[in-house]
Amino acid sequence: MEYFEVANKLARVISVLPNKIKIEVNDIERFKLESERFSVGTYLRVSDSEDCALICIIENFSIQKTERGINEYILEAMPIGFLDSDGTFTRGGNNIAIPPTDVEPAKMSEIQAIYEAVETEKRFCFSSLSQDSNIKVPVNGNKFFNKHIAVVGSTGSGKSHTVAKILQSAISAREEDNDFQGLNNSHIVLFDIHSEYLTAFPQANYIDINNLVLPYWLMNSEELQELFIDTEANDHNQRNVFKEAVVLNKIKHNPTVNPKHITYDAPYKFSVNEVLIYIQNKNNNRKNKSNKIVWKGIDDTEELVINQDNINLMFEHILEPASSASSNGPNYGDFLNFISRMENKLNDERLAFLLRNKAEAIGFREAITQFLGYDVKNGSETNNHNMTIIDLSGVPFEVLSITVSLISRLLFEYGYYFKKSFSNDTDKTPLLLVYEEAHKYVPKVQSARYNSCRVSIERIAKEGRKYGVSAMIVSQRPSEISETIFSQCNNFIAMRLTNPDDQNYVKRLLPDNLGPLTDSLATLKEGEAILIGDSIIMPSLVTIDKCEQTPSSNDINYLQEWKKPWSQVDFEALESSWIN
Ligand SMILES: Nc1ncnc2c1ncn2[C@@H]1O[C@H](COP(=O)(O)OP(=O)(O)OP(=O)(O)O)[C@@H](O)[C@H]1O
Ligand SMILES: [Mg+2]
Repeated sequence: MEYFEVANKLARVISVLPNKIKIEVNDIERFKLESERFSVGTYLRVSDSEDCALICIIENFSIQKTERGINEYILEAMPIGFLDSDGTFTRGGNNIAIPPTDVEPAKMSEIQAIYEAVETEKRFCFSSLSQDSNIKVPVNGNKFFNKHIAVVGSTGSGKSHTVAKILQSAISAREEDNDFQGLNNSHIVLFDIHSEYLTAFPQANYIDINNLVLPYWLMNSEELQELFIDTEANDHNQRNVFKEAVVLNKIKHNPTVNPKHITYDAPYKFSVNEVLIYIQNKNNNRKNKSNKIVWKGIDDTEELVINQDNINLMFEHILEPASSASSNGPNYGDFLNFISRMENKLNDERLAFLLRNKAEAIGFREAITQFLGYDVKNGSETNNHNMTIIDLSGVPFEVLSITVSLISRLLFEYGYYFKKSFSNDTDKTPLLLVYEEAHKYVPKVQSARYNSCRVSIERIAKEGRKYGVSAMIVSQRPSEISETIFSQCNNFIAMRLTNPDDQNYVKRLLPDNLGPLTDSLATLKEGEAILIGDSIIMPSLVTIDKCEQTPSSNDINYLQEWKKPWSQVDFEALESSWIN
């Protein structure tokens, strides 16, 4: 047996393939002594005659009996990169000089050295190695935040805690040697579907349905149509009359602006109630014998014919056809359903944040800055915030997607105009937009209903990086999210995933071929994650640090709760919070 020739070695490499190293171990007990926890996932160090160290991860382990009845241990390991004699680590694993001379478990100090290859000022840390909690796993914070992040995992896998930990670490980060008081310059906007993040960020700028003001007049044409027009019906007449009314009404309300600059998409104020009156009039128009649309005059004066000069009357009065009118005008009676749909929306108390007085009165700057954590209204510096939580739990489901779309688009445009308006040496204010439960408003299904939201978030995914706007996509159902959005993510935090479709989807998208690391997706513990992407030195199985102030999403201790004596519920209080 060759063992005797290498008797002083506990193990030897028996084959080297581009992505697999096979190792035979003769005395497993002595071999593993070096390493406190020896298991699949343990790091090995394979060296060659030039003393170059190849770091590999154990993928599987098997025992074979030799002819002489001796146990032979076979380890298969995946190479991940090289450690130079000066301690620098490079990814990739193809050029170990053959034959390798030695193999042993990597020392913890070596593994820590690998992770610490990230330059100090760029280090951002929120987890440690699952193998050994003493080894911190920093990522390159610039790359991490710059190139979109995906956090995926089944319910209860620990996504919300992970998001909270990352954001808390970002908010508390300070320049080296600069332990200043007050806020740092981080800017985060989080879309909170289940109203669970306020407990993790009690200082945040908290916006919910009661104080959210999202003016409809900031919507672009797509969002307006999604809100008011039955998009499935695809009715051109409706679209045309609506567009005409919106543009004319914007001209009416912005007399100092050159009408050429006023388009359907431009964020100029208009009155949606006046637009409704215009459409009601259009629905009611009648012609006289000479084919002219004629109305009764205001105050019953002479007959009225609408032209460019008095078009505003169409917005100000519900007109009646003149008595000389003898036949129906164009589109007479066409808009009954449309009008009733618009009326329903305008009367819907739940949509007050979009359509009522406050939304009409708010100014452009105030509307935008409420999401950015700047207190522009009162100009008070003490009222600035790193974090804005937009609690969507009270937003009616049918406008959820539009709400997210509009806010995302405004924030993207903020980034765009920031870059356009200020010179390169102005202090920057890069933004991170966090989408919790993203599958709810940007699903893969091609439905007109989610169109504008998909367009807004896809735009951030595709172009946001250039303008300092990045996205963090959080979801339990990655396979149901728009692929364009997901595939632009360069950093993945993959937590336990039990659904095979989701597992396969994630495996397919992950940038590295990680074999067993991704196979373990189904068996990860709460708070455990596979961290992959260009911000991390090498793909790693980590445990996310626990956050001190947690989101209110903890598991309920069912059995303990059930074992207590019967507890009464204050149904009156419940009813009033339910109904009001
Ligand atoms: N790093 C961690 N270490 C230990 N336990 C954790 C960790 N992160 C989360 N947990 C626990 O896991 C449970 C679920 O966490 P969390 O609410 O973050 O899951 P989730 O993935 O957001 O679930 P959902 O998809 O339903 O929102 C909580 O009880 C929490 O205490
Ligand atoms: Mg959650």
